[in-house]
Amino acid sequence: MKVTASAPAKIILFGEHSVVYGKPAIAAAIDLRTYVGARFNENGRIKIEARDIKTPGLIVSFSENEIYFESDYGKAAEVLSYVRQSIELVREEADRNERGVTVSITSEIPVGAGLGSSAAVAVATIGAVSRLLGLELSSEEIGKLGHRVELLVQGASSGIDPTVSAMGGFIHYQNGNFEHLPFMELPLVVGYTGSSGSTKELVEMVRESYEEMPEVIGPVLNSMGMLVEKARDIITGEHGANVKFKLLGKLMNVNHGLLDALGVSTKKLSELVYAARVAGALGAKITGAGGGGCMYALAPERQSEVATAIRIAGGTPMITRISREGLRIEGAGK
Ligand code: PMV
Repeated sequence: MKVTASAPAKIILFGEHSVVYGKPAIAAAIDLRTYVGARFNENGRIKIEARDIKTPGLIVSFSENEIYFESDYGKAAEVLSYVRQSIELVREEADRNERGVTVSITSEIPVGAGLGSSAAVAVATIGAVSRLLGLELSSEEIGKLGHRVELLVQGASSGIDPTVSAMGGFIHYQNGNFEHLPFMELPLVVGYTGSSGSTKELVEMVRESYEEMPEVIGPVLNSMGMLVEKARDIITGEHGANVKFKLLGKLMNVNHGLLDALGVSTKKLSELVYAARVAGALGAKITGAGGGGCMYALAPERQSEVATAIRIAGGTPMITRISREGLRIEGAGK
């Protein structure tokens, strides 16, 4: 018996960081996916094999407490802890702690880029292993287990990443509750800075500023929450696509400025953001925790010019689309 499941990457469109303070955020699944195959093994252990599609070849083999790195993949160990926790959690839920499970992972999602690779691998693992162990879980339940995995591995998390990866499409998220927003095509260009920030450290840094001067940082977080509600009104409203794009672009620029005010932007991120705007994007901002990672631009008309500008500014552009689909069971059989 083998079950294969896949789950998508995400971008946070609006509201990262303020979402940690109970404000709303909007995120969307994008069309890069992580695939996890799960099967039983006879030795009662957890075994993880990971392959990166962009770096073919076996990268890591992990059995009990031994980790073998067969190529330089700095973030792999971190990804493995999400996978391991996911398997342990599902075995516990199924009351099958003794059952040996081998999972093999392939992924199109760059690791440590702020695109939710950890949440995607957790959601796909939980999806595949729960099915293998005969647990009937909804995508929503799987997203919630993914949140528990994030809390176990990284300590703090709003849960937005596993929710959007499990559910797909556009999500409005607040305090653990989510709602799907109507689907709309967004012509996006994601720009990767090539480095990654630590979500945990950036969340702590914002917390420190907030505690030092709540009267200054509080209103910044409130404004972020308000602009998310404005974005929700625009997405769900009656305007045509072009008007929606223009208004959402403006809100992206405001949101970027507020994230910069919180101190989570970097020179490189802001350079990519400004390069994209100058090349014709209607809006551009950081996506995710910042400190490196990715920005994204909304470019209905000049997508390839915006991609080129991001490349010239030193980033790696990825033209991407919103994915309607969240967790997907690819197949189950012998
Ligand atoms: O690092 P990312 O892309 O997963 O973004 C984290 C988003 C934060 O709001 C900064 C943290 C959180 O848990 O929501």
